[in-house]
Amino acid sequence: MADRKIIAVVGATGQQGSGLVKAILADPSGGFAARAITRDPNSDKAKALARLGAEVVAGDVDDEASLTKAFAGAYGAYCVTFFWAHFSPEKEKAQAAAMARAAKAAGVKHVIWSTLEDSRKWIPLSDNRMPTLMGQYKVPHFDSKAEADAAFAAVPTTFLLTSFYWENFIYFGMGPKKGPDGVLGITLPLGDKKFPAIASDDIGACAYGIFKGGDAYVGKRVGIAGEHLTGTEIAGAFSKALGQPVRYNEVAPEVYRGFGFPGAEDLGNMFQFNRDFADMFCAARSLEVSRRLNPGLKTFSAWLAENKGRIPLE
Ligand SMILES: NC(=O)c1ccc[n+]([C@@H]2O[C@H](COP(=O)([O-])OP(=O)(O)OC[C@H]3O[C@@H](n4cnc5c(N)ncnc54)[C@H](OP(=O)(O)O)[C@@H]3O)[C@@H](O)[C@H]2O)c1
Repeated sequence: MADRKIIAVVGATGQQGSGLVKAILADPSGGFAARAITRDPNSDKAKALARLGAEVVAGDVDDEASLTKAFAGAYGAYCVTFFWAHFSPEKEKAQAAAMARAAKAAGVKHVIWSTLEDSRKWIPLSDNRMPTLMGQYKVPHFDSKAEADAAFAAVPTTFLLTSFYWENFIYFGMGPKKGPDGVLGITLPLGDKKFPAIASDDIGACAYGIFKGGDAYVGKRVGIAGEHLTGTEIAGAFSKALGQPVRYNEVAPEVYRGFGFPGAEDLGNMFQFNRDFADMFCAARSLEVSRRLNPGLKTFSAWLAENKGRIPLE
């Protein structure tokens, strides 16, 4: 362990962080060691990471001192926030700033900050094509991460632009649902535009590639995706994997915003932002760069082959 560079991973028991921990542990001769940060080192998930060979330490993004302690002695830190746990851009920005200060105090050499675009650069608040939310955002969970980028200016940071996870089809209630005629359909406001998305584990695996690349990535923005697919192509892959027809139900963003589940407006704006600026979104998330960082990068069909049994079909 002493001769290996420690990567401290925030959110290690979650989707992005666990992918990074697993990628580090899967490469024992890679020169890196995984330090998993969790609020509860005694949880089943934390214990499972310890059994796999990760060092498990306590840390909470709401407690800066705990982060400084958890980052001590680490070469690298993976920093991610948890918007959907609280729906608060202000909290997300405060947590990101605390992580950045802790990384600086601990002398971390390479931070990866999991961020997203500021939608307001493309759709100013005065643009009425989508509603302004919470008084000052178009896509709150994007805009707050982008605002938090500034907090990382004082530390050697790679700004990692992530993509929509295909796991949302399992956990976020976005999977195929039966219509009145009994035929499955996925409902998304994407028009006929390409939409970058990824297997969540591949985010961590790409991040590992960035840590291995070291200084070459410091100060850079790197976007990643597993594939760029239209709604029709997503539905087609589902149909093939599930062995039954799955339709793409295209809806207007305003319809999606009105679905009423927590975060529906934010996500409706997000899909519209993706749709209306699809070329920019895809260009910022090169499949070639993603595959170079992570040669095991999965396509949607490969992800479906592994995960189709976990997708609830309602
Ligand atoms: N879903 C998507 O498609 C998507 C795409 C791109 C970006 N994102 C962004 O990804 C972020 C979430 O990342 P994720 O999906 O990896 O999260 P996640 O799977 O929900 O993981 C959350 C993990 O974070 C830990 N955690 C929660 N609150 C914490 C706190 N206060 N301090 C320390 N750890 C805490 C928890 O671990 P313990 O319980 O062990 O502490 C939990 O296991 C969000 O900000 C979201 O906007 C999501």
